[in-house]
Amino acid sequence: MADEIKKAPAPLKVTIDNITVEVPAGTTILKAARQIGGEVTPPAMCYYSKLEGSGGKCRTCLVEVAAGSTADPRPMPKLVASCRTNVMDGMVVKNITSERVQEARAGVVEFLLLNHPLDCPVCDQAGECHLQDLGYQHGKEGTRYQFERRTFEKEDIGPKIQLHMNRCILCYRCTYVADQLTDCRVHGVLDRGDHANISTHISKAIDSNFSGNMIDVCPVGALTDKTFRFKNRVWFTKPVDAHRDCPECCGKVTLWQRGDEVLRVTARKDEWGEIQSYDGKPGWICNTCRFEKKAAADWVIEGPTVVNRHSVISQGHYQGMQMPKETIQDVMSGLNPRLLMDIHDISEVNKIELSQLPGAATSANYKNESTKSE
Ligand code: SF4
Ligand code: FES
Repeated sequence: MADEIKKAPAPLKVTIDNITVEVPAGTTILKAARQIGGEVTPPAMCYYSKLEGSGGKCRTCLVEVAAGSTADPRPMPKLVASCRTNVMDGMVVKNITSERVQEARAGVVEFLLLNHPLDCPVCDQAGECHLQDLGYQHGKEGTRYQFERRTFEKEDIGPKIQLHMNRCILCYRCTYVADQLTDCRVHGVLDRGDHANISTHISKAIDSNFSGNMIDVCPVGALTDKTFRFKNRVWFTKPVDAHRDCPECCGKVTLWQRGDEVLRVTARKDEWGEIQSYDGKPGWICNTCRFEKKAAADWVIEGPTVVNRHSVISQGHYQGMQMPKETIQDVMSGLNPRLLMDIHDISEVNKIELSQLPGAATSANYKNESTKSE
């Protein structure tokens, strides 16, 4: 019949860590796991759903396929990359329930940390770094690596972004951003093996007003915002959702404030650490919003950002906090302690416009009047 209505293909059933979900054909195991959410979802250091072609580089998303499908229930002999393997009907997948996966992931983390410096105390990404989270969950306390770590000179990728190649894990996400958000492809990973690195090729793509999105997709602290570098620790800042009527981008951002000061502007992220989508389109933001609009008055503030993933940043969220029964007032004979100290009032930090400092914030910036003459 000419006007026969085509039937949509039946959804496929997949069981991940004993939880069964139905997904459309062509869904990867990782996406199906994200549909379930929580611990069942494998970590992903290189896959980024908004970047076409991403995934398959880091191996952090490895899972065990205990049964391939209803038609062929044999297990897959090797662990597979969940971001690149499609679901089959009746597939049984093991992630946190598989010792093999946990062991392999610990090995992957060990490899990722072979060359990555443990400079979290001075790295701007600390507190929102996916490798840091992965290290806590699967890392070992020591390294077996006996050789010198490879090191690179820091490189300016345009006036507002700094590349600290030592921290790069070669996930390729930034090259995909440059490739897919700029007009022509002028970048790539140079060299191979131990020498592979992101280098000056990428700086040629910096003309684009969307180059700052490389910072948001970088899972580690290799690409950092020079207007925010060393200005503050992320857990001292308060993220709020804000928007402006931007002719270039969606204008929907997260402002990272300390007091009233806007220290950093980023795109809004979802629970997987990826940029949020609006009406099915990724909410990339332009460099004007990111680097030039650093006053609260530039924005319409919507309210505190909901941080719905495990993160030290969520420590700054006092909304809906459940306070335990407090007895300390009785202990202190009726005195009322300031349990939630307003560090901004007390530390005098707000007297310095951190975002206006030309370089990093150092102890010299905090000298008060009595010590300035010293
Ligand atoms: S600089 Fe960051 S985003 Fe680019 S490849 Fe390295 S880790 Fe990935
Ligand atoms: S997220 Fe699958 S290989 Fe990196």
